[in-house]
Amino acid sequence: MGLGISPSLLMLVAFFWLPWLSDVGAQSTGSARALDALLQDYAYQAFKALNKPKTGIPYDGVVPPNLTGIGISALRLRSGSLRSRGVTMYKEFEIPTGVVVTPYVERLIFVYQNLGNLSSVYYPIPGYAYLAPVLGLLPYDASNLSATNLPELHINASEKPISIKFQGVSSVPAGSVAKCVWFDLDGLPNFSNAVSGNICSTAQQGHFGIVVESNAPPPAGATPSPPPSVVPRGEKGGTSKVWIIVGSVVGGLALLVLLAFLVLWLRKYKRRKKMQQMEKAAEVGEALRMTSVGNTKAPAAMVTRTQPIIENEYMP
Ligand SMILES: *[C@@H]1O[C@H](CO)[C@@H](O)[C@H](O)[C@H]1NC(C)=O
Ligand SMILES: *[C@@H]1O[C@H](CO)[C@@H](O)[C@H](O)[C@H]1NC(C)=O
Ligand SMILES: *[C@@H]1O[C@H](CO)[C@@H](O)[C@H](O)[C@H]1NC(C)=O
Ligand SMILES: *[C@@H]1O[C@H](CO)[C@@H](O)[C@H](O)[C@H]1NC(C)=O
Ligand SMILES: *[C@@H]1O[C@H](CO)[C@@H](O)[C@H](O)[C@H]1NC(C)=O
Repeated sequence: MGLGISPSLLMLVAFFWLPWLSDVGAQSTGSARALDALLQDYAYQAFKALNKPKTGIPYDGVVPPNLTGIGISALRLRSGSLRSRGVTMYKEFEIPTGVVVTPYVERLIFVYQNLGNLSSVYYPIPGYAYLAPVLGLLPYDASNLSATNLPELHINASEKPISIKFQGVSSVPAGSVAKCVWFDLDGLPNFSNAVSGNICSTAQQGHFGIVVESNAPPPAGATPSPPPSVVPRGEKGGTSKVWIIVGSVVGGLALLVLLAFLVLWLRKYKRRKKMQQMEKAAEVGEALRMTSVGNTKAPAAMVTRTQPIIENEYMP
């Protein structure tokens, strides 16, 4: 029976589920990348607006109102000076000597980001809670301060790692261990142990956080864990996307089976109704026969038995 119905049902299911699935795909790419581009633009604008911006001095920028809570800053350096002298302290980042920039630029700008209470919106990690805001350190070519959508440069701390001293870290719940998380530019999280309480280290640019597993009650003052509606980026995003797809396929199949049962039941119901009608009609027919012919139960009666049904069925 299913052959007649299944294709149209499948199309129905596909019609309702596919747009939703492609939506999920679109969401999981790039909102944090778009934020990087926007913050680069705003940090450069703030820097450019200064009368004579100095190299080696960090300047804070202002974000648009819809991003209130995020802090940005711009620090321009000569790449030679970065390599030979480092930066004692740029916000939470301590940059040692020996940091190499590729591809080569004469001057670069380190755009600093503090994602504040939007950390878990842009960098959700299911199962973990942030103990401090996510920080970003992204180097760009400083040759054109009007440039937008600049590609990030790559840095490599070849002698000693860059240390990140997170500020205002919530206390770690008893029994939990603080972990450092580094997101590369594709948003893939990579966990490592904290150097000490609130210090993480990195050899590269990217975004950084300090987290604890959040199956324990969340520590006071920590950023709340990400709302379930937010689709996580990167690796975790990949697995949860897989689950969403698996879930919708299973859901679709369940729906299909349910509909098939409904159709089967309807058919059965109709057939039973028809049978009842037939029986009724037969009884009427038999009654008529009884009066007219009497007790004869001959094959002839079987033939006539069906005739009233046809009449019944086609009567208005
Ligand atoms: C915030 O506002 C800026 C400029 O007004 C806009 O370009 C950007 O897309 C907005 N971002 C978000 C996440 O709403
Ligand atoms: C983040 O904090 C700022 C104030 O610092 C507030 O205006 C904004 O609404 C907050 N955003 C969220 C998502 O909590
Ligand atoms: C700088 O970038 C802006 C925006 O992309 C572009 O219009 C301008 O021509 C660039 N200036 C130079 C000197 O490359
Ligand atoms: C970073 O520099 C070190 C030492 O020069 C080198 O061994 C390593 O391959 C570099 N790593 C990257 C990712 O460029
Ligand atoms: C995560 O970090 C470890 C140790 O530094 C490294 O071996 C691994 O390749 C990294 N994974 C990713 C996805 O970058």
